[in-house]
Amino acid sequence: MANGRNGNANPASLLQKVGKIPRRVREDCYACTTVIDPNLAWLDGKDSRITVFEGGKRRSLIDASGGVSTKNLGYGNEGVRRVIRQLLRDQREVFGYPHHDMENDYALNLAWLLSELAPLKVDKEVVFANSGTEGIEAAIKLCYNARAKSSGQNRRRKDFVACYGAFHGRTLGSLSLTCSKPIQRENYPTNAFTNSHIHFPARHPFFVYDDWGDIQYIDYTPNEYIEEVKRACRKGQIDIDSVNAVVFELIQGEGGVNVASKEALQDLVKFFKDNGVFVVIDEIQTGLGRTGKLFALEHFNIDPDVIVLSKSLAHGFPFSAVVYDANMGWTEKGQQSSTFAGSPMGSAIGLEVISQLLSNGLLPRAYDLGERILGPALRTIAQDYSEVVHNVRGIGLMHGIEFWNPHTRKPASQFRNEVIIQARKRGVLFLDAGISAIRITPPLTIGSDSENKSGNELGTIIDVLTESIQASRRKMKRIQ
Ligand SMILES: Cc1ncc(COP(=O)(O)O)c(C=O)c1O
Repeated sequence: MANGRNGNANPASLLQKVGKIPRRVREDCYACTTVIDPNLAWLDGKDSRITVFEGGKRRSLIDASGGVSTKNLGYGNEGVRRVIRQLLRDQREVFGYPHHDMENDYALNLAWLLSELAPLKVDKEVVFANSGTEGIEAAIKLCYNARAKSSGQNRRRKDFVACYGAFHGRTLGSLSLTCSKPIQRENYPTNAFTNSHIHFPARHPFFVYDDWGDIQYIDYTPNEYIEEVKRACRKGQIDIDSVNAVVFELIQGEGGVNVASKEALQDLVKFFKDNGVFVVIDEIQTGLGRTGKLFALEHFNIDPDVIVLSKSLAHGFPFSAVVYDANMGWTEKGQQSSTFAGSPMGSAIGLEVISQLLSNGLLPRAYDLGERILGPALRTIAQDYSEVVHNVRGIGLMHGIEFWNPHTRKPASQFRNEVIIQARKRGVLFLDAGISAIRITPPLTIGSDSENKSGNELGTIIDVLTESIQASRRKMKRIQ
């Protein structure tokens, strides 16, 4: 026991103490290894801002990460609040009968809507889950299920291919695909199935960890990605006839905001499909308008078999959806399920999120803000501070800026971390991504001067980033 007590205390007296125990004591028994800083506690949010408790005080920060892309519609969204209030008013029990055992109308409506909207050129089905990683697990099982229904060699396809730098989740199936930071895999089995990693077909040079946790600098032409995969197949490093599915993000989020090259991705998808491999697209971070399209897939003109959505789908309520070729789907009772998947609450919010994204002009706006304001401003920063900025990449409101030391050609992770610290002092919360990048994924509703809105949080993000780079330059003698 972290707090050293024996658990014999009177339960009623414990209940009276809840909420009165010093923060330090409560922290001792709370296990979460990914908190940004124990001195920073989340209190509330409105639009693009969050209220936090920091150093004993309440502060307001602009959240340049958009709640790690869960708040595409902005914090405290009125439509989402209305849906929640309506469910509370109309139903005595808003979470329903365990959703795996009885259908509800909200889930049916959302499944239908997603199957109509998802850019897959096949008859579609949808299955729900409770988190990103669970959606990926469902997609993995779906691919196995489809193989079990097939014949000949296809029946024996068990292996998976994913990309270096990928983040697909932390449960053991999805973790076997994840390859973003060594610490995420250390200590755990990552062989839920035979898996290989290939280089993410980025349209720009970038840093990434390899199988041994060493940092590699990748600067390929679009053609080199497919050539490398074909070489791996020829050498037997990938047994293409045993590969069940390949899983791609379109923009690696956690891996460093690496944007796929359309040409290189198309070549890879064609190669895998020609060889009978299913293609799964993880749109958990890129979906729901982040890139200015409902699905980032719409930028890439590829034809996958499976799409996974989560994060902003239910505005941060734990929820995910897998949209797939109906031919792959489950036919027997009991083959795939989860107690809470397809909850009325998650489904009703999902319907509201999609409705707002499609009706409020948010998608073209997100694209426009990214291409006309955020991207150009970041590129100007890259030019002005070329002694520390490697490059800028992104689509719509999903952008990243990567730092390096151009003399050593090494990533500048410590410098990146200092920029994040400086920015927080100045009122903007940035999240890291990859080895030495910062990700900028604000809510799609973020205020921008270009529209004469009262708030210009996008402009503030850019100004604070510039000031924070300057301050970090002054503070750090060596760029590393
Ligand atoms: C692209 C992508 N896939 C999967 C996941 C895993 O989602 P979750 O943390 O909800 O399990 C994430 C989370 O950041 C993600 O960004």
